Amino acid sequence: MLRPKTEKLELDGAPDLKDPDLYMRNEHHDVFTKLRQSDPVYWNPEADAAGFWAITRYDDIEAISKNPKLFSSAKQKGGHRIFNENEIDENQTEASMISLDPPEHAAYRRMVTPGFVPKRITGMEDRIRARVTRLLDRLAERGKDGTEVEFVDAVAAALPIEVLAELFGVPESDGPKLFEWSNATVGEDDPELRVSDDYMRKCVMEMAGYAAGLWQQRLAQPGDDLISMLAHSNIPNADGKPEPMSFPAYIGTFILLVVAGNETTRNSISGGLLALSENPEQRVKLLNDPSLMPSAVQEIIRWVSPVLHMRRTATEDTEIRGQKIAKGDKVVMWYASANRDEEKWADPFTFDVARYAHPNVPTQLGFGVGQHFCLGSRLAELQLSILFEELFKRFPDIHVSGPVRRLRSNFIAGIKEMPVRLNA
Ligand code: HEM
Repeated sequence: MLRPKTEKLELDGAPDLKDPDLYMRNEHHDVFTKLRQSDPVYWNPEADAAGFWAITRYDDIEAISKNPKLFSSAKQKGGHRIFNENEIDENQTEASMISLDPPEHAAYRRMVTPGFVPKRITGMEDRIRARVTRLLDRLAERGKDGTEVEFVDAVAAALPIEVLAELFGVPESDGPKLFEWSNATVGEDDPELRVSDDYMRKCVMEMAGYAAGLWQQRLAQPGDDLISMLAHSNIPNADGKPEPMSFPAYIGTFILLVVAGNETTRNSISGGLLALSENPEQRVKLLNDPSLMPSAVQEIIRWVSPVLHMRRTATEDTEIRGQKIAKGDKVVMWYASANRDEEKWADPFTFDVARYAHPNVPTQLGFGVGQHFCLGSRLAELQLSILFEELFKRFPDIHVSGPVRRLRSNFIAGIKEMPVRLNA
């Protein structure tokens, strides 16, 4: 079975958080605000499955994420998506780290961690800046004489894909393929991205074939890239003895990296520019004080929350905020809601680039928290800060100049198209 499309449900006026149209219309924040006040552990029935608990408060999400024993990410229990990952077999993969619990999780995470250590990420800075400069040259060319330019394609999508190609040690010209497969993988509810089931199968086959080719090549000729790290790593087997990573486990990890490294950063870039256009005084503040950039990056991720949710499964009967949760129940943590929680911030609906320049501000939860905290967070932050530094140096008046088109998805807060003008 392919990953299922979401079936909509008529809920007699109660919200259906699974409805991808809610996010495409950008109407979810009103719904989350009401739920945080009235029903922060909300039972959301499903048309095609058993239903799930929707968790909308920051503290609850933090507590759940830090308790993997009680709230599992394991694929065999359902995994990290609302649909059950153990019921789909589209790519015959084994679970990647994001769908594993301790202690296996740590072994898998350890294999890829060297690719993301601070020294290595900082070492990419000059190359990322050079890429950004090239992309902005192209943007300038397309937008000369005041012409409107489509920003997602020109910049927001291009940068993370080029960086991912560098991590994998593949040519930039492979970027469009990675882009297409990544879109198809998370786009099950958007007819423009998953045009048909056959198309999805074709993407899965192509991605697996491509990943297999790289595996063979890097087994024979290892380099200093993520694929080589995976191909030459060892994982403890059932008896605790190290053995090479299995091919299905590698494919699972490959797909995770393609999607995780791509969709999230792209949508933070587009969503960040949108927020700065809608709040011109914040753009001026940032232009006048570039030292605010690290704070602005955190605020952009809080504001955009590009990953809307992650799911866990209760391993025992338990309670959250006094609500009984049964063993086996799905628990879905809505980061997009936690990041606007009035219990944490007095003004969560204000976009403030200086917010994180003050002491004792709650960490935003856009990268998750606990065991599965985003492995690529530093890389994403670096891309965002370089991009906005260079963008505003070059085009201080760049602004969104027309309506944006959003992704139809309950998983990724995505922007598919966003017109901009480079000058006032
Ligand atoms: C703004 C950009 C990003 C956001 C908002 C984001 C968000 C997240 C979130 C919420 C999780 C937690 C999953 C959970 O708790 O179940 C996660 C995990 C992960 N992310 Fe990111 N991510 C971003 C960028 C990246 C990049 C650039 C990469 C790699 C190239 C990456 C790789 C990963 C990996 C491998 C995991 C799984 C970690 C684990 O299971 O231990 N992410 N990310």
